[in-house]
Amino acid sequence: MHNDEEGKSIGLSYFTERGLRSDTIEKFKLGFCPGDGETFTRIASNTGYKVELLQQLGLTSQYGKDFFRGRVMFPIHSITGKVLGFGGRTLSADKKIPKYINSPETDIYLKSKIVFGIFQARKAITQLEECYLVEGYMDVISLSQSGIENVVASSGTSLTQDQVRLIKRYTPNLTILYDGDSAGVKAALRGLEIALEEGMNVKVVLLPADDDPDTYVQKLGADGFRKYIEDNKKDLIHLKTDLYLEDAKGDPVKVAGIIKDIVQSIAKIPDGITRSLYLKQTARNLNVEEQLLISETNKILRKGAFDKLSTNDKASVEHTEIMPVAKEQPSFTFHLDEAQERDIIRLLLENSNFEIDGENAIARILRNLTDVEFENGIYRKVVDEYRTYYEHNEFLPQVFFINHDDEEIKSLCIDLLQSPYEISDNWIKMHDVPITEKQFLVRKDIVKSISLLKLKKIIKMKHDVDARIQELGKLTDEASIDEVRMCMKESMQLQTIINKLAKDTGTTVLPVVS
Ligand code: GTP
Ligand code: MN
Repeated sequence: MHNDEEGKSIGLSYFTERGLRSDTIEKFKLGFCPGDGETFTRIASNTGYKVELLQQLGLTSQYGKDFFRGRVMFPIHSITGKVLGFGGRTLSADKKIPKYINSPETDIYLKSKIVFGIFQARKAITQLEECYLVEGYMDVISLSQSGIENVVASSGTSLTQDQVRLIKRYTPNLTILYDGDSAGVKAALRGLEIALEEGMNVKVVLLPADDDPDTYVQKLGADGFRKYIEDNKKDLIHLKTDLYLEDAKGDPVKVAGIIKDIVQSIAKIPDGITRSLYLKQTARNLNVEEQLLISETNKILRKGAFDKLSTNDKASVEHTEIMPVAKEQPSFTFHLDEAQERDIIRLLLENSNFEIDGENAIARILRNLTDVEFENGIYRKVVDEYRTYYEHNEFLPQVFFINHDDEEIKSLCIDLLQSPYEISDNWIKMHDVPITEKQFLVRKDIVKSISLLKLKKIIKMKHDVDARIQELGKLTDEASIDEVRMCMKESMQLQTIINKLAKDTGTTVLPVVS
């Protein structure tokens, strides 16, 4: 594009006309594929690339022609800057020609696992602790050129779980910037739910109907654009409330439908605290009893867990509450790290015949794990199996797993039982309180260990809530005062849990919490 006549007069001039500077074109490695349909493949094969390989990558058609002929080219980079595939935009205004075509899926280009622009954006995303998600290649590039660099696009496909996970490696904060038209709203809502399910803190900004981020940032400039985002950010509840409530006009049947719909979405949030905050807010916004929303959520959660069980097991869990319905009782889900999860599996395997204060060790461990969710799939399977049998008051012996039909479980357990017990560094790091390795090695202390871990997390949560109270302290508007009140209640509840856990663990050296 920079050296060839056609490249310069057609490709480069297109980008220049769209307002791109040369440093931007270089940053995104934009290019051009000549229009005769042969030049690219000829030069590539003369340079030493096998035509067969070019065909496998979708750059050359099966008849040996250039796949992207006459298009400007957008390379799609991996997080480390390697080119995985391309998008190519036609320069023709002919509506019958697809505007963009993309490389086909190949061994290296897996569309659902990469987002466009992540290589160029990742530093800014980490620094600003936020990632913007837009729809188009040009949106990413144009925002980036204007100085808004923390931006990526899902490029053509709707947002996937893997793409969200990729972004989550850099920040938990995602802001979706989509068109305000009905297709945009739909896509935004879908994206929002996927991100919520992955535990992201996600907001949506709808742009004015006939703008996209590219045209809008060119109108407003970077500062104006950022301000627009800040002023128009909506979370799930606000978005849905705004979108639907106006529509319902107080019709109780419609409003009930909206509430159900919102609760459905909230139930997908993995973190219990976030879930309960959303419920609280929804109750306030829609002027319904929070208790009602909580029990609705419980129903959904219970049903979700229920559907996963076999018919035999279903009867026994019919009446289990997954989230406490009692007032003033927030629910928490705890996550351990992988090494901790493994340690627990090992403890379960090693202690089926062991008793602690007259209680079977497995029962004791499982009871202490009720609010712990295992992330590693295979460990989770093992724990779930223990849990299912435990519901029938059975404690699975080691041999059950050593002879398991699932090869993966079998070899995991054999592995665990053969390798010597070692305490994970991380586990110890999780606690501020000094803990001797020996304490940990005493199997009985497993209960204490789990409680300590929870304690540490709750203390962190309380710190966060207290910080928020400080932050809001000076504000006098009604909403802030309301939030402070809410936070103070939250803080007190957390303190109650801290006290209880501290007692359980017999911890005297507590990190200072005011
Ligand atoms: P400009 O029209 O050049 O401003 O591009 P844009 O990036 O704003 O594209 P647009 O908003 O029209 O579309 C958003 C994204 O959807 C694009 O960046 C492409 O990734 C994808 N897309 C758009 N049109 C097509 C198409 O015809 N086929 C395919 N496969 N993808 C498309
Ligand atoms: Mn556009």
